[in-house]
Amino acid sequence: MKILVIGASGTIGSRIVNALSAAHEVITANYQSGEVQIDISNIESITSAFETIGKVDAIICATGNVAFNAFSELTRDEWDMGINSRLMGQVNLTQIGSQYLNDGGSITLTSGIIADYAIAYGTSAATLNGAIEHFVKAVALELPRNIRINVVSPTVVTESLSVYGDYFPGFNSINAEELAKYYVRSVLGVETGQTLKAFAGN
Ligand SMILES: NC(=O)c1ccc[n+]([C@@H]2O[C@H](COP(=O)([O-])OP(=O)(O)OC[C@H]3O[C@@H](n4cnc5c(N)ncnc54)[C@H](OP(=O)(O)O)[C@@H]3O)[C@@H](O)[C@H]2O)c1
Repeated sequence: MKILVIGASGTIGSRIVNALSAAHEVITANYQSGEVQIDISNIESITSAFETIGKVDAIICATGNVAFNAFSELTRDEWDMGINSRLMGQVNLTQIGSQYLNDGGSITLTSGIIADYAIAYGTSAATLNGAIEHFVKAVALELPRNIRINVVSPTVVTESLSVYGDYFPGFNSINAEELAKYYVRSVLGVETGQTLKAFAGN
């Protein structure tokens, strides 16, 4: 399979690349590096990246920025950053990317445990993660040519605990290699419209 991984240089994306590259042709895309550069918050950038890449069998999005702040402090710019990246970035990627998917291809997006379990400073992430999960459930019914779509919802990643650990007191973490299996399941399996919750035990 020809598989595009966006956010391929990241903590999660790099393990997804590792998990898939032995048996598949993986194209890496990041904001600043990789075989292709893409900014998912910019429609022209998404289109230009796919014009460069051409047709693929699977698209994985392991990125999507969102602001963490107290609700009373969240600015409109911070909300817009998440809306344009975590939410509409992944929505636009789905709309544009599906035109570049071969028949029976798949799209796998990323949300996060905050959609289900609240944390301090997580209002924007909770809102946008929830929206992405509902988007996936709905759009799965409209995608043509047997194209599937799922979203992976990770708990905090073990390798990210030094950065995000304080936001997730008492939460179980998942190591990135284990988490990558959920993306593999979405790409190689048959499920569609699903949120694959990578946080059993929380
Ligand atoms: N890590 C966690 O504990 C955790 C838990 C739940 C959910 N998530 C979510 O999972 C996703 C990946 O997390 P991560 O920890 O692997 O992130 P990360 O290590 O910070 O890596 C982010 C990746 O996304 C790319 N990127 C940044 N902005 C982009 C943009 N506008 N368009 C396209 N690519 C962009 C980066 O490219 P460059 O290297 O070129 O900048 C990098 O490859 C994020 O949406 C995050 O919120 C993470």
